[in-house]
Amino acid sequence: MSSILEPTPENISRAASALAAGQVVALPTETVYGLGANAYDDDAVRKIFQIKGRPSNNPLIVHLSSLDNILLAADAAAVEKAARFLDQLARFIPGPLSFVIERNQKIATAVCAGLTTVAVRIPSHPVAAAILSQCSFPVAAPSANPSNYISPTSATHVSDQLGGSVDLIIDGGPCQVGIESTIIDLSRGAAKILRLGQVTAEQIADALSVPIEQLLTKEEKVLAPGMLKEHYAPRTPLALLREMPEISERRAGLLYLSASQPPAQLAAFQKSKALSSSGDLAEIARNLFKSMREFDSLGLDFIVVEECESAGIGRAILDRLMRARAKSVTE
Ligand code: TXA
Ligand code: MG
Repeated sequence: MSSILEPTPENISRAASALAAGQVVALPTETVYGLGANAYDDDAVRKIFQIKGRPSNNPLIVHLSSLDNILLAADAAAVEKAARFLDQLARFIPGPLSFVIERNQKIATAVCAGLTTVAVRIPSHPVAAAILSQCSFPVAAPSANPSNYISPTSATHVSDQLGGSVDLIIDGGPCQVGIESTIIDLSRGAAKILRLGQVTAEQIADALSVPIEQLLTKEEKVLAPGMLKEHYAPRTPLALLREMPEISERRAGLLYLSASQPPAQLAAFQKSKALSSSGDLAEIARNLFKSMREFDSLGLDFIVVEECESAGIGRAILDRLMRARAKSVTE
């Protein structure tokens, strides 16, 4: 079992050295915890896929300490071409935004699952930034959960499930964003959002001065391989409050949006929890995965979740709910 280490200067250096030596390190970011490995080291990257049980056709995001180091991951000509987009998006970097760009030849092939592009993120979490600043290579890091389970938002979540197979776990406290980064594809003529997150479609549309619909329209081709199949689901079947089936009320738990406005059905549930005190979407996102995990350990027949509005961070929350629900309802 790997123990959870405090983010002392010694442990931060130890994590960077372990990454350089080809080990797998779980590290905190502001979105979710990541399972990191040296993105130039094919063997190290393959360990990530093995530990997660992740299909090899689902590419990883690579992490850098600063946009100044972009050439560690991206192709120089592509960076020039994307310069205008990167300028416009500068207000979200570092932060919970990943962008897809043509990759350079140093990135291990396993990272990009055979694609010519790579997803890049510069996390703002001080512990992630400190570790990355001591690495002379990009760090490939998917969320540190078994494939298809809910992403971890604390060091304990990581150690509960992957403690036996990870070399080091660095604790950076609970994740403040709580859902995975927004991903935007900059490798084509027009920018497209591939995954919704805390950086909202509205904010990106505003920064790039394009209509939101243009960012969100899906092309025929699957832009993010593996993404459509990703579930992020608890093991307990999950349903939305609106479509709540005839369930045995005694064994269902309800996650609802606002402590100050509980839904009328509240009393019917054996267990209930508000995701926010006031219905604040950022707070709901922060608490969502943690609460799903907590309810998943209670032996309930159903987890029922109240839906939020489909705007701003709400779009990203609904995306995660639909993925969590898909497993129980469609399989
Ligand atoms: O917030 C996050 O992004 C976290 C933290 C650890 O940084 N990471 C994360 O990684 O969520 P992961 O592996 O769980 O999700 C990565 C997503 C996948 O859906 C994958 O399909 C997409 O990024 N992706 C990676 N490389 C891509 C590429 N070249 N083109 C399109 N999509 C890509
Ligand atoms: Mg993931």
